[in-house]
Amino acid sequence: MLNKEDLKRQLAEMNFFPWDTVFVTADTLKGDIEGGSETALDALCEYFNDGLLVFPTHTWKTINADHYLYDPEKEDTCSGLLPSLFLRREGVYRSLHPTYSVAAAGKKAAEFVKNDDDAQTPCPKTGCIGKLVTEHAKMLFIGCGLKGSAFIHGTEEWAEIPDRLSPDFLPVKVVLPDGTCEDRNIKRHYSSVGDVSENYGKLEEPLLSKGIARKGVFGESECLIIDAERCAAFVSKLLQADPSLFSSAGPVPEEYYSVKKTIKISTSLLSCNAARLEDEVSSVSHSDYMHIDVMDGHFVPNITFGIPIASAVHRITEVPLDVHLMVSEPSKFIEPFAKAGAEMISVHYEVDEDISKLITLMESFHVRPAIALKPKTPVEVVYPYLSRLAAVLIMTVEPGFGGQSLIEGCLEKARKLRAELRRRALRVDIEADGGITASNIGLVSSSGVTLAVMGTSVFREKDRNALIDRCKG
Ligand code: DX5
Ligand code: ZN
Repeated sequence: MLNKEDLKRQLAEMNFFPWDTVFVTADTLKGDIEGGSETALDALCEYFNDGLLVFPTHTWKTINADHYLYDPEKEDTCSGLLPSLFLRREGVYRSLHPTYSVAAAGKKAAEFVKNDDDAQTPCPKTGCIGKLVTEHAKMLFIGCGLKGSAFIHGTEEWAEIPDRLSPDFLPVKVVLPDGTCEDRNIKRHYSSVGDVSENYGKLEEPLLSKGIARKGVFGESECLIIDAERCAAFVSKLLQADPSLFSSAGPVPEEYYSVKKTIKISTSLLSCNAARLEDEVSSVSHSDYMHIDVMDGHFVPNITFGIPIASAVHRITEVPLDVHLMVSEPSKFIEPFAKAGAEMISVHYEVDEDISKLITLMESFHVRPAIALKPKTPVEVVYPYLSRLAAVLIMTVEPGFGGQSLIEGCLEKARKLRAELRRRALRVDIEADGGITASNIGLVSSSGVTLAVMGTSVFREKDRNALIDRCKG
């Protein structure tokens, strides 16, 4: 059973900040939540107390030529249960758009909703949906994808895609806060080819692959977190290439969004089935490296592979070995692992040994030297050694266990390091280790990582080499 605090923790794990502007689209909430939807709303409202929380509160299903009076106080929404409950809360402001209103809570809420005061077409750039772009909003889709998204409707409208608005205006009346009525004329969403918003889901794969969208969990619902500004820019570019992109259900052609990735994959054997080592190793033969996590139960609270396993792997594959020493005294193990066939060895900066001497030791055994950094260690500590290193391994989880989620904040170190390497014209691999999946590899690679360690996400696949190929691009 999840409670409010669990939900707030999940928001933090999805890298939301309390001061963010967040646009939440939600379907039915999954999971056993104490207090159900109201608790979910409490968690969202409390978490984003210093920011701006916005929900779509559409009425396009109910406002029409027969029912033309929009009273923001009374009209329910067709956006789902969560927005409908949100609307009834204290301190929530609703905008005056007759069919595509939003509701907002937070310090800037009253100001924010004003953008719809005289908005005409369903989602103009100057309206509240459009303002999500200029506000650098993060969009959180809980348990639902982009199908039917007002934001994508808006993006089509801003790109002036033909055949997306009704030819005629619909005259409606809006009840203003002082109780008086105002006449408004709006256009409705309309397309001669049917409901194009049914096809917006095709954007999910390209957005994930570009690192504009990422996945998360709220309650037990799968979520998509999407950067509004980057999403609008990307979708406009797609629409420029093909204005009728959403007129059919077929996928977005890969050439529209494929990124030339130069990322290499080091497959972590930590999550393989060690009882079938030989088969497991050959199932990942497309890897650029085999990543061997060596843990001593002291530097990290776990024990894993030792020298005999490294040497066995070396005998059964041509793929070079990337040995990650999570041990307190790496100086003792460089020689044996070098002799077991390691091509590259990473030692942790945080150990109590002289880093320069460790590099010299690795050089003396013709091993490519690398320094590994725990999530909390700043990247600048490796700068004095860069000219002697083959790689810097940036841990994107706390070392010790496979199967954890990527700490996105650690990628900032890759960005900094990339800038430093460029400045000094050095060629050093930026390796990231922990929580990397096919869904976030675009984000990882775009932050400058050139070598990605992947364990769980590879070994849970049936066709592992196919996944590795896909991730390499
Ligand atoms: C964690 C290890 C990682 C781990 C990565 O201490 O250093 O190499 O195996 O595995 P996944 O991909 O499961 O996070
Ligand atoms: Zn590792």
